[in-house]
Amino acid sequence: KIDTTASINGIELPLCIMNASGVLCSTDQELSNLLNSSSGGVVTKSCTSQPRKGNVLPRYFEWNIGSINSMGLPNLGIHFYLDFLEKKKINKPIFLSISGLSTEENYFLIQEANRSSKVTAIELNLSCPNLLGKEDMFGYNFDKISNFIENIFKFNKKPLGIKLPPYFQDVHIKNIALILNQFPIFFITCINSLPNGLFIDANKESVVIRPKKGFGGIGGAIIKPFALANVHKFYTYLRKDISIIGCGGISSGKDIFEHILCGASAVQIGTQFLKEGISVFERLKKELTLILEKKNYSSLNSFKGKLKNI
Ligand code: DOR
Repeated sequence: KIDTTASINGIELPLCIMNASGVLCSTDQELSNLLNSSSGGVVTKSCTSQPRKGNVLPRYFEWNIGSINSMGLPNLGIHFYLDFLEKKKINKPIFLSISGLSTEENYFLIQEANRSSKVTAIELNLSCPNLLGKEDMFGYNFDKISNFIENIFKFNKKPLGIKLPPYFQDVHIKNIALILNQFPIFFITCINSLPNGLFIDANKESVVIRPKKGFGGIGGAIIKPFALANVHKFYTYLRKDISIIGCGGISSGKDIFEHILCGASAVQIGTQFLKEGISVFERLKKELTLILEKKNYSSLNSFKGKLKNI
């Protein structure tokens, strides 16, 4: 019997696979589908205090090995998500993703999340790459991040994790980890989409999405090496009681196995969930189980973080 459950620093997931924030988790219908699915948890679309329509269409495009998006945080506002949870029977951990447009808005959103008994944990998104006129993403602001998190833990009582952007230098990950290690953070989720990519249509000689002259966050299979690198480096630098949720480039059980080998305790599925729909969780569970069977591993802990050097 293979055990594919996961523990995020004590938050027990019935399956180590769940949706990535943003994908099919914005509306009542989408969230109900996730609650009824085999997804090990439900992550909500990053919300703001007021509803937002987001950027102009078209704002999402996918090709065989990747996706580009510039959604601009379309969401129904935090109170929609809290009200939705209030009226639902909850059977698995709920991660409320929040993405305030200012520090003050983030403090407000965390306060509101603290009032709901239905929110298992907060996933604080410091890595949205698509806000027009707001180019300074918090996850890259090494000066402000420490003070910001310190203030949060003056009042926050909920399990809290942080959704990070990809980093490309060892010293950046080291420095962020040094900061995070000072606080009672439950988990990090890495990575968000690779910011400021550009996909073009050579036939039409044009960009494929409309906002920001075609630039957007890149997801899908092509970002897996960056996701794995971030997961593994954070695994070596973070306090051992801060769990890592791996996100980026997962479309098979083998991809999940690799994330866990790099140190992830659980994983999230973005682009592939959008492509395949709700059945993706069952398929990935089967594929992962087969791999563990073949390798004679009975649970994730048998190989988590045990990537070998050569
Ligand atoms: O790729 C992303 N798109 N990451 C985010 O954090 C936000 C989202 C959006 O709404 O633009």
